[in-house]
Amino acid sequence: MNIPYSKSVPKGSKLRKWISQEINGYIFIWYHSEPTEIPWDLSLSMEGLQENFVYHGQNSFLINCHIQEIPENGADLAHFDAIHKKNFIAEFLAPKNISAERFGHHHWTASWFPRFGKSKHLAEVNLTHALVIFGKYYCFRMDISGRQIGPSFVCLKINSTLLGNFQVFQSITPMGPLLQKVVHRFYAPRCFAPLMKIFICGESLMFQRDINIWNNKMFRRSPILAKEDASIKKFRMWFSQFYTLNSKPFTEATTVGW
Ligand SMILES: [Fe+2]
Repeated sequence: MNIPYSKSVPKGSKLRKWISQEINGYIFIWYHSEPTEIPWDLSLSMEGLQENFVYHGQNSFLINCHIQEIPENGADLAHFDAIHKKNFIAEFLAPKNISAERFGHHHWTASWFPRFGKSKHLAEVNLTHALVIFGKYYCFRMDISGRQIGPSFVCLKINSTLLGNFQVFQSITPMGPLLQKVVHRFYAPRCFAPLMKIFICGESLMFQRDINIWNNKMFRRSPILAKEDASIKKFRMWFSQFYTLNSKPFTEATTVGW
């Protein structure tokens, strides 16, 4: 401990130290209910920002749900067609227009898998996107590879036919029991600024579709899953590593100060 204007430190003064790491402009602080747990080496897990990338903006949401619901989104492969198929431009221009399909629809393919061994706190999600017009023309293709780091951080690398390469970081901060703050930050070359604004708008509208569900969803510990939901089962097994002996149950978490 050091007091800049004093040569001594008063007896009995204490300061709690936190293990922290600064990467890509974020400060990560290690907080775990088990004092014996060893911090992950984030520098190996994080996708470094490309040199020519600049910050293009962020969106931020408060969501009323269990923290586990949000990262489960990537492993819920069936939901992409169910809620992300409708064209966001059509939704924006004509939310009640039943013929929105004439503007085309989003086509998604997705896969999710966990990592093992020393990297078991990581999981990978891969998505492909295309805007299908007149049922046969596939435009605005994007390949998205995401890395989930622990329960509350995701690095997304996107390769798009229109925008080239860019990156998105998602952070989830628990603000209280069943209240999460989600922030997406967007990075790309400077020259893509106007197109990135459209992308951020589209991503925000797509994410709000998930939020509508999360805000009304009840967290079930053992849901009934169809055969096609196998990756949700795998996700839940992977996520269970983040609950340990001293993790506070919900009833206890509601009584502590936030
Ligand atoms: Fe989603």
